[in-house]
Amino acid sequence: MGCLPQPFKRARKAPHPLARVHATQSAPLGISGLRGNLTSMPRVLVVDDEPGVRESLRMLLKNDCDVVTADGVDEGLRAIVDTPPDLILLDLVMPGRSGFDLLSEVATRDDPPAIVVLTGTRSIATAVEAVQRGATDYLTKPFDVEALQIKVRQLLDHRALEHEVARLRAKVGGRNRLCDLVGSSEAMQGIFDIIERVARSQATVLVVGASGTGKELVARAVHDLGDRSEQPFVAVNCAAIPENLIESELFGHERGAFTDAKERRIGKFEAADHGSLFLDEIGELAPTVQAKFLRALQERCFERVGGKESIDVDVRVIAATNRNLESDVASGRFRADLYYRVNVVPIEIPPLADRREDVRALAEHFLERARTAAGRGPQTISREAITALEFYPWPGNVRELENAIEHAVALADGDIVGVGDLPASVVRAGVSEELRDAVRSGRVGFEHATRDFERTLIVEALENSGWNQTRAAERLQMTRRALKLKMDRFELTPPGTS
Ligand SMILES: Nc1ncnc2c1ncn2[C@@H]1O[C@H](COP(=O)(O)OP(=O)(O)OP(=O)(O)O)[C@@H](O)[C@H]1O
Ligand SMILES: [Mg+2]
Repeated sequence: MGCLPQPFKRARKAPHPLARVHATQSAPLGISGLRGNLTSMPRVLVVDDEPGVRESLRMLLKNDCDVVTADGVDEGLRAIVDTPPDLILLDLVMPGRSGFDLLSEVATRDDPPAIVVLTGTRSIATAVEAVQRGATDYLTKPFDVEALQIKVRQLLDHRALEHEVARLRAKVGGRNRLCDLVGSSEAMQGIFDIIERVARSQATVLVVGASGTGKELVARAVHDLGDRSEQPFVAVNCAAIPENLIESELFGHERGAFTDAKERRIGKFEAADHGSLFLDEIGELAPTVQAKFLRALQERCFERVGGKESIDVDVRVIAATNRNLESDVASGRFRADLYYRVNVVPIEIPPLADRREDVRALAEHFLERARTAAGRGPQTISREAITALEFYPWPGNVRELENAIEHAVALADGDIVGVGDLPASVVRAGVSEELRDAVRSGRVGFEHATRDFERTLIVEALENSGWNQTRAAERLQMTRRALKLKMDRFELTPPGTS
């Protein structure tokens, strides 16, 4: 079906009084499929002071368009506000305000309608001027009905296409974020899909990824997009709680359960009733607590420490780990049955270095956040700085990028964040590329190059964790002792000491 098939056929059967030439063949169909995407008929506004012209155009278009008519500019502007048209047929010469007035008001708006000006054959110059001032096209009176048909059809199809493209672009663009998560890489798109699907279920989710990849943000998105979003999201970091306290932290305790238990205390499981319990670093859960946790997960009931009463809860569990739980299961460190209970829907977040396409969007997102928080005006990141960011290996993943941008925003004094504002470690990674070249060309030996690279990574990790060795070691996924040995070997000491 064409965009406006009916009036054309009618026009052919019964020549319109304004018609000079009548169509003898079918007008081209154009991209008519798009009409199916419009929720209603396209709206056409006819602005002309001559009632005869208004009526003729209305009759010609009314079967396929919502036609509104106005006898002058003021009424036309009112109609535009009431029912924004997709296309305006505009007479230029009218008593009172001229069509140019309406043109200049409407053509400069966001997403203006198509505007076709109607002029006498002897005023082509005026029509050309109108086009220069924003009209889409012109038609000369008396109308060539076929030309009018084709023009209206083409313009409406074109507009529908533009809207469809904008809609799809918004949809695709919208996929660059989900809740607070930013990412356009294929990996993140896949993760967004899983989050959306799993959020609607009650399934237990296991988020796996290295430190700083966004595990907690993913867990929150699962909660926020599900039907428990109005209920609590309770987070417990198993790595941060001493082994002897974790059981009472999770399940609560009765008064007198142990020496320090002066009062009854509600645990995180109970606190999360009807909501979600986020168990971060589940791989660190003490073996003694794993069995109780498994039962709570399976039966949704448990006893407080020192208590006999069985407490039922309705909790959705979302767990996270940066460990390889499968190998922990193999080594007997983590219970296999608990692993299978927890790993119902795994969501694996790759390290940032494996999805460098996300670096720019993330950097821009953090820039926007940091500069707003600092109450600064608009800022952009220079191309060179983006290149440096995309090049850097990000051992600390997104968290490290976030810190780097905050650092850069604090240093940048203009509206452009440049390479010089980035942490030295990030920029130095570019130097490593030079080093690689030097090795390739035989100017530098393998031993020297790898030592240099090691040193660079260690300095970066130390700088990005404020020379906190425990955090730097975590970031590099090595023990603190191994880091210390390397620091000694490279004679690295925190700034200000020597
Ligand atoms: N995709 C992302 N979009 C926007 N911000 C992100 C994204 N991923 C991570 N972040 C930000 O990076 C920081 C680290 O994220 P998060 O705490 O969720 O990581 P994590 O994997 O839980 O780290 P850890 O293992 O160290 O606990 C947070 O400030 C978070 O807001
Ligand atoms: Mg975390």
